[in-house]
Amino acid sequence: MSSGRDGGAPSVSITGAAQVLRPPRDHMQHLRGDELGAQTLEPGAVAARDGRITALEADPIAEVTIDASGCAVLPGFVDCHTHLPFAGWRWGEYEQKLTGVPYEEIARGGGGIKSSARALRDASDDEVLDQASGLAEEMFAAGTTTFECKSGYGLSRDGEMRALVLARELEIYVPQTTTSTALLAHAVPEGYTADSWMAVVEEMMPEVVAAGSVTALDIFVESIGFGLTHLELMGELAAASGLALRTHVEQLTCMRSVPVALAAGARSVDHLSMIHPDDIAPLAEAACAAVLLPGAEFLGAEHRAPARAIIDAGAIFVLATDANPGTSPVFSMPVVIGLASRLYGLGVREALGAATLNAAWTLDLQHDRGSIEVGKRADLVVLDGPAESIAYRFGHNPVAIVVLGGEVAYVRDDAAAERISG
Ligand code: NIG
Ligand code: FE
Repeated sequence: MSSGRDGGAPSVSITGAAQVLRPPRDHMQHLRGDELGAQTLEPGAVAARDGRITALEADPIAEVTIDASGCAVLPGFVDCHTHLPFAGWRWGEYEQKLTGVPYEEIARGGGGIKSSARALRDASDDEVLDQASGLAEEMFAAGTTTFECKSGYGLSRDGEMRALVLARELEIYVPQTTTSTALLAHAVPEGYTADSWMAVVEEMMPEVVAAGSVTALDIFVESIGFGLTHLELMGELAAASGLALRTHVEQLTCMRSVPVALAAGARSVDHLSMIHPDDIAPLAEAACAAVLLPGAEFLGAEHRAPARAIIDAGAIFVLATDANPGTSPVFSMPVVIGLASRLYGLGVREALGAATLNAAWTLDLQHDRGSIEVGKRADLVVLDGPAESIAYRFGHNPVAIVVLGGEVAYVRDDAAAERISG
């Protein structure tokens, strides 16, 4: 792409779209309950200049024009829960799961998170960054323009700090904006109890904050992970450091961790496959995202989260990949949307709002990302058909063109290229 008149991004006009996803009103922080279904998918156009959306109409003097006839134009997907960067894969473990060995048993036998920790320790920085940037490229081609990274496979003080440095470095190599979450309590490292490891986490906090890139802490609350007292402590550490609290809760067993996470001020409760029915109403009232991860649920044959009840109660409903080498080696938001739509019975607007504005809110980026509004960053996706085709043509990548920060940054094929002029 040539640069624009003023040396910045060239102006872009996306014209004649069959559908443009728009929130019910401008400046909404997130979408709850019926607000999801009140998003519109009407014909329209989007213009961008200097990286920002400038108008919801065609710009006749734009330097680049994209003909979006027959296509949907969406905000770039925000993947607010991934475990990038990590090293290697766990192919064999998935076959064990397919043939009936439970995840807890694999984990207790030294597999699971601990085997990815060994792989990370044995990989060079370059190997980790190469693998992660290749995966980010796949994500970009599937429309993800912003994603969250997590540590969590370090499983030692030095290992976790290295993972956070690698997460920060990854942003240099990928087109997307990334955020960094310190998942400092993922599995109890060898030689520690959950209590003694949490004491190390507490000691690490000044170093984690000084790294400057971390915006949230995270914890895996589970029978094979950490308990409710550790969740409370992680909340205190997050509050004291001015960081958000993200949580992995109610994935495999119901621990009643949602009320504890809410009391601890969590920005999100993620997984929720085993959420207790009594915990849905308080979650729906809270300023806390309910992040469902259908990749992990489907591939792990986990219990199905009560998505319909969570949406109808009015929670901030979010979808993400949980991209990781164990429970969800899934990097495509269209695949997640397709899975979620079928498993949870979602309308297209519900699934899209959960993958865009609500996901941006989870990362505290809603002021700038996640919806098509004048003034927001021009991260836009042009599909090869209507928005309904994402779930319908399950497994097909529907993304034809990605506009990132106002510039055409990905064009899938010749047919997509023919839509672009200028
Ligand atoms: O979100 N639940 C814990 N953490 C990850 C799994 C990590 C792994 O198995 O490597 C998850 O599913
Ligand atoms: Fe996760």
